Amino acid sequence: MTQTDTLDIVRKVADLRARVKYWRDQGLSVAMVPTMGALHDGHLTLVRAALEAADRVVVSVFVNPTQFGPTEDLSRYPRQEATDAEALDGIGCHLMFAPTVEEMYPDGFATTISVKGVSEPLEGACRPGHFDGVATVVAKLLSQCGPDVALFGEKDWQQLAVIRRMARDLDLPVEIRGVPTVREADGLALSSRNAYLSAEQRVQAAALHRALVTVAEGVKAGQSPEELCHRAAAEVLAAGFAHVDYIEVRDAATMAPLTGNGRPGRVLAAAKLGTTRLIDNVAIEE
Ligand code: PAF
Repeated sequence: MTQTDTLDIVRKVADLRARVKYWRDQGLSVAMVPTMGALHDGHLTLVRAALEAADRVVVSVFVNPTQFGPTEDLSRYPRQEATDAEALDGIGCHLMFAPTVEEMYPDGFATTISVKGVSEPLEGACRPGHFDGVATVVAKLLSQCGPDVALFGEKDWQQLAVIRRMARDLDLPVEIRGVPTVREADGLALSSRNAYLSAEQRVQAAALHRALVTVAEGVKAGQSPEELCHRAAAEVLAAGFAHVDYIEVRDAATMAPLTGNGRPGRVLAAAKLGTTRLIDNVAIEE
């Protein structure tokens, strides 16, 4: 097998496995960054962290149909494989795994991984079936690649919690590592969806992160989470958001309501600015 200094692209699970085995035979460690492509600086931060974490890095680029709901437009999801490959090559990523839908879900595919509890509230309630699609495809990707460590952005905090639970429950021999959210100077979390915001909305968007920080500080100071979240929703609407799906304080690992038993908490939110749905979250620092 050849090993070049530039990025290689494979589309078949068998080729991915062969490449990882080749590395393993040389005693090299492997990190994986699962993505749906349309890579921005937030993704590249994950890849850079992966390059620090292991000798070889695989980035998967797969727009996973099973995590889109019937009202979510899968066909509109941005696809820019050549640009993604160039960006990955530029930072020293070793392999891009870009399978087809048929490779991932061959005829007769019949298995769904459903993670109870942690995947049910918040995003799970707003997007029924979404986390089943995420858990199933991530379990497949981890099984196909067999990395030592897999890295996910903390921006999708609930997704990270679902994946951690799934990996633990299925005894997957992989470390699941969260990487802190990359933010613009005004606090807006980087997301491919920010590209849909008008210039005015882009300014208004920063209100979401501001509101979450206020809630986190208030909870830390002993104020009522319900009242803080209620006020935060009003602030976000006043800033120009059209709708708040949720702003809630939750147990950071289980997503259950925070009961004040000393477990780490997280403030999580989803809100619509025009037609663009933004999500974000912040830690409640101890
Ligand atoms: O976060 C994403 O981009 C996706 O949900 C993931 C983890 C790559 C699964 O398709």
